[in-house]
Amino acid sequence: MTFDAKARIARLRAEIERHNHAYYVLDAPDIPDAEYDKLFRELQTLEAQHPELAAPDSPTRRVGGKPLDAFVPVRHAVAMLSIRTETDISDQGAIAFDARVRKELGLGESDAPVEYACELKFDGLAVNLRYERGMLVQAATRGDGETGEDVTQNVRTIHCIPLHLKGCDAEVLEVRGEVYMSRRDFERYNEKQRAQGLPTLVNPRNGAAGSIRQLDPALAARRPLSFFAYGLGEARGWALPATHSAVLDALAKIGVPVSEERAVVRGVQGLVEFHRRIAEKRDQLPFDIDGVVYKVNSLALQAELGFVSREPRWACAHKYPAEEQLTVVRDIDIQVGRTGKLTPVAKLEPVFVGGTTVSNATLHNEDETRRKDVRIGDTVIVRRAGDVIPEVVGVVIDQRPANAGEPFDLFKLLHGKCPVCGSRIVREEGEADWRCTGGLFCPAQRKQALLHFASRRAMDIEGLGYKLVDQLVDAHLVDTPADIYDKRKLDLPTLAALDRMGEKSAQNLLDAIEHSKRTSLARFIYALGIRNVGEATAKDLARHFGALGSLMKAGDESLRQVNDVGPVVAQSIVAFFSEPHNIEVVKALRAHGVQWVEHEVQAVRESPLSGKTFVLTGTLATMTRDQAKENLETLGAKVSGSVSKKTDYVVAGAEAGSKLDKAKELGVAVLDEQQFLALFKSI
Ligand code: IVH
Repeated sequence: MTFDAKARIARLRAEIERHNHAYYVLDAPDIPDAEYDKLFRELQTLEAQHPELAAPDSPTRRVGGKPLDAFVPVRHAVAMLSIRTETDISDQGAIAFDARVRKELGLGESDAPVEYACELKFDGLAVNLRYERGMLVQAATRGDGETGEDVTQNVRTIHCIPLHLKGCDAEVLEVRGEVYMSRRDFERYNEKQRAQGLPTLVNPRNGAAGSIRQLDPALAARRPLSFFAYGLGEARGWALPATHSAVLDALAKIGVPVSEERAVVRGVQGLVEFHRRIAEKRDQLPFDIDGVVYKVNSLALQAELGFVSREPRWACAHKYPAEEQLTVVRDIDIQVGRTGKLTPVAKLEPVFVGGTTVSNATLHNEDETRRKDVRIGDTVIVRRAGDVIPEVVGVVIDQRPANAGEPFDLFKLLHGKCPVCGSRIVREEGEADWRCTGGLFCPAQRKQALLHFASRRAMDIEGLGYKLVDQLVDAHLVDTPADIYDKRKLDLPTLAALDRMGEKSAQNLLDAIEHSKRTSLARFIYALGIRNVGEATAKDLARHFGALGSLMKAGDESLRQVNDVGPVVAQSIVAFFSEPHNIEVVKALRAHGVQWVEHEVQAVRESPLSGKTFVLTGTLATMTRDQAKENLETLGAKVSGSVSKKTDYVVAGAEAGSKLDKAKELGVAVLDEQQFLALFKSI
């Protein structure tokens, strides 16, 4: 045989595992998704052709599996215990724990401080992963601590959990830890569900627990889960380190995900500092925690301390304020966003949740509100975690008062009219949101639209921020973008008299306004804030039509000749210019001297990148995003703000976020900064 299938399969498996680790554990993808998919498909094909070479730890075995009728009980080799929780969220929680440990160990005041391992208390579901000779053979839930359930099939679908350990063939090694759902995965999953009118998850913890206990592994695999190890179960034939922190280090080395947010500290002062430090960054963590965990670091001392009523004396959890609370809905308001989106918002009896007092919480949209059946007077669960807007996650139906409000009906509530400007409201087919049709003439939308109009990438009016826009709109000095240029409305004395302005800033603002009058057609189109017309589309439109008049007259068919303009974008443009108010605003802007060169010809080079679409995300070390964009555009490439199937490359700088994820999801090629620079050099 010239082709050694066995060797190729082994190499593919190793390579795919390495990429998996880079992607899911290190969060640093090392090849474009399309390349990864190619390797994966090659392995799938080879395995199908050579069933004799099947292996339970092949990366292809993470997916699939048949639905179960029920979970099989698993008796734990070593009981899965729980830990004592200090609910006193002040420093006292740590002080009490340290005092207990010292007392049990018979330590006096003059004895040295105890060394502790500090960790996060992850908010998910505890699982035991059993590895035999380095292979994952079983995964079980905690159950009652003695007996759990076999959830191996579902746990296999969690990509960051290794199917085999790196360089470890211990006879038995049980890794214990928490399966959780990151906030980003939770939000994204819910957004997708909401857009399709499907039920959402209440919180990441329920998301994790529910997915693991899902009998159909295909459904479980759809919910994105992650895992962190925090301890061991049975261990045979494994050289046990002397401390808990060294156990976690050793686990990390053999490929098990371990949170980096941990510390070894000495004494009570160290515990208190850890608790405070994590409290400060709790909102920025990518996942929910409900506290921190302290463990006596020495395993010998742990053994000496032992257990009391099934809880170790050597560990304790120290809580933070809850991220979910109960409160009562006083009223339901409707808020109007920049694009006219109408969002139901619950007005709440103020409640302290996730570290702040919350009195408003989003209900997202009409379908969600109905599905949760939120009514005025209801007792509801409010969630505020991370920097996400507080939301109502559910109703405590048992506590519904007899005089509770009616089932939610947005149209009826608003009598079909925008609560701010009285324009007609519409909910288009296939859309989850109702919208106000008032456009720029709706004051709520106006403020947002003015901010967009003045923003750096639009008309670039420096100094026209949201505080000033609020004042200008509230004082009826500015109603439309054209008013910004109306000298009868915005003059020096008027501006200088505004709160926190003064003559100098007023003059600076007037200069910035004057300066912004000379712009490009693309910027002007973008500044208008037409729905679905972002910067890239505005540039395409400017290039294609060359003059505003032609764009304003264009119908659906001619609009769709433009690169990347589909029926939705075309419809938005037609709708915008068929609104007489909008035409008035455009005319007034021109009358006040806003101008641009029509039929501008850009100095664009023909290059191998001509016609390619790039998306830039994250921070580049060697150039600003604007520079990168300009460089690309002079080479004939296009830079778009969002990733789609039509994107050719995503350039991911440091801390790239959701666009990078989207690129991976769609299999778009991803370049890091090095590769990006190399590409430039090669042209
Ligand atoms: S140690 C014998 N460490 O909290 C000690 N538990 O009651 C076993 N948890 O459901 C637990 N983060 O799943 C430990 N860093 C951490 C943890 C942690 C979360 C969960 C665990 C269990 C509960 C403890």
